[in-house]
Amino acid sequence: MIKERVLSGMQASGKLHIGNLVGALSNWVKLQDNYDCYYFVADWHALTTGYADPSSINESTKDILINFLAAGLDPDKCTIFIQSRVLEHAELHLLLSMITPLGWLERVPTYKEKQQELKDRDLSTYGFLGYPLLQTADIIIYRAKYVPVGIDQVPHLEISREIARRFNNLYKEVFPEPEALLAEFPKMVGTDGRKMSKSYDNAIYLSDTPQDVEQKIKTMVTDPARIKRTDAGNPELSPVYQLHKIFSSEKEQEEVAEGCKKAGIGCIECKNILIKNVFTIMDPIWTKRNELINNPAVLDDIAFLGTEKATKVAKETMQLVREAMGLF
Ligand code: TRP
Repeated sequence: MIKERVLSGMQASGKLHIGNLVGALSNWVKLQDNYDCYYFVADWHALTTGYADPSSINESTKDILINFLAAGLDPDKCTIFIQSRVLEHAELHLLLSMITPLGWLERVPTYKEKQQELKDRDLSTYGFLGYPLLQTADIIIYRAKYVPVGIDQVPHLEISREIARRFNNLYKEVFPEPEALLAEFPKMVGTDGRKMSKSYDNAIYLSDTPQDVEQKIKTMVTDPARIKRTDAGNPELSPVYQLHKIFSSEKEQEEVAEGCKKAGIGCIECKNILIKNVFTIMDPIWTKRNELINNPAVLDDIAFLGTEKATKVAKETMQLVREAMGLF
């Protein structure tokens, strides 16, 4: 049976947190059994906003690769690679730039949003405007059918579909229109109750030690109205309870919710249960991370072999593209 192709990438800007694990990586791991999966580190994308100081991109790339493997991506089942090593992405990006109306790129909501968010950087660059176009090249160069992404990426997928369609109409049917595969998962809150994000300094990272995790959860915000141990609380107002919903069994969720409402359990006790459950998820990841950190040659081999495999497919597509466009 021919497996359908799935592709997704993660931008190499900073460390991954447990929201990335539960939201994206765990889903990628599940998909590798039933699809022909391509997963990569988007290090060029990190340059679109980080060009002025690219010094951390290399480190991020390595850390993401380590996390891919630690979370359970298996190089025998899926293809793992680094974007900047497959030069064909750049060639396709260039050719697609010829057929992409500026208005399509300017209309992508993340364009203006990110510029607002990162006001301290000069993002009126050609590369930043082209972010979704580079992403389109990443996807369609593998003629991928499905792209597992978060809801925030849906506008990018939409423009990828439009560009694939435009190419097919102008020249020849080369590209399938990629579809977003949205994973159903609750939004992860950070230690302060806002959305978990590296920019809020409220994240639990996959590279955190057990001591870090324990410390972060112990100092988490709870229901602000529950001041004394004897006060009854409202679990729905506590970010700790939001994390219980993701990491704890239903029985434990009920117990902590009831305990909170009736002041039957204190916040420290409630947090200890969460710490135990986060440790259970993290234990195999910590073990695998340590193995890989102590053995960087393994990581290099995996990235090298994956990149070779990806390059082969990318080259095949570029042959079709050149033919379709009538290039030499
Ligand atoms: N834009 C994605 C993110 O921020 C990363 C990315 C780059 C990507 N190229 C891609 C995702 C191709 C899916 C497919 O997470």
